[in-house]
Amino acid sequence: MYSGPFQPGDKVQLTDAKRRHFTIELVPGGQFHSHKGIVEHDDIIGADEGSVVESTLGADYLCFRHLLVDHVLSMPRGAAVIYPKDAAQILVEGDIFMGARVLEAGAGSGALTMSLLRAVGPEGRVFSYEIRDDHLAFAKDNVAEYFGSHPEWWSPRLGDFGEITREDLDGPVDRVILDMVEPWHFIDTVKDVLIPGGVFMTYVATVPQLMNIMEAIREAKCFTEPRAWETLLREWKVEGLATRPEHRMNAHTAFLVWTRRLADGVVPPRPQRRARR
Ligand SMILES: C[S@@+](CC[C@H](N)C(=O)[O-])C[C@H]1O[C@@H](n2cnc3c(N)ncnc32)[C@H](O)[C@@H]1O
Repeated sequence: MYSGPFQPGDKVQLTDAKRRHFTIELVPGGQFHSHKGIVEHDDIIGADEGSVVESTLGADYLCFRHLLVDHVLSMPRGAAVIYPKDAAQILVEGDIFMGARVLEAGAGSGALTMSLLRAVGPEGRVFSYEIRDDHLAFAKDNVAEYFGSHPEWWSPRLGDFGEITREDLDGPVDRVILDMVEPWHFIDTVKDVLIPGGVFMTYVATVPQLMNIMEAIREAKCFTEPRAWETLLREWKVEGLATRPEHRMNAHTAFLVWTRRLADGVVPPRPQRRARR
């Protein structure tokens, strides 16, 4: 359940007065123990999200279900995850639409997978390739935990992205998203499986990676001139006269690269660059 009163089986985040989080799974008759006393699960079951429960020693806890971002940031990881600020960019700039057929690799810990699955919905399809079986196991567990079961429109597969063919995917896909160390080795596969007009996005952490993938896309001569950007997210503290940016931020996660597949046989228009003086 994503909304409505709490039910048995729900994962609930309890937040105390010091903003510390504790996650519990609701079981009828169950108890949450801490040095601040005991919280009865039965006091939470049936209550609305956003309720406050009191422990036997008088401590208050605010109760909410996990949002997708809470799950992504707290779930077990086999590999580094795509952070929510970048996943949001991929969903919108990558134009992940309801019913889309999306191919991603590597599945890693399954963080991006969950956003893709929600965006395409049951009418769509997400193929998630991962070369390491231990990482794929993390992705499967994390996705199943979030959705409560294995979504029918998800195809997690153990395999090398470079060996995928259209037949493996029952035809071309609308979107390809790559998050791996050397995506430039797989441009031919992207070219083969992506439908004309389809969007290809990739996520790379370093400048040399960025340069390599941009060059590989240009050399393939079947994509539009690629765009590259990064997103800087700075939180603000807003408290009267103390209002100011937070002192700390995650200054860099990765660069995003975006391009679209041209129709077969089309020569990419040359990018217009200003003549140097
Ligand atoms: C940074 S992780 C991906 C994280 C994932 N996007 C997430 O949000 O949780 C990169 C993954 O790519 C996988 N990988 C690397 N090369 C691959 C290939 N050729 N085919 C499939 N997966 C590959 C790695 O094993 C690793 O798990």
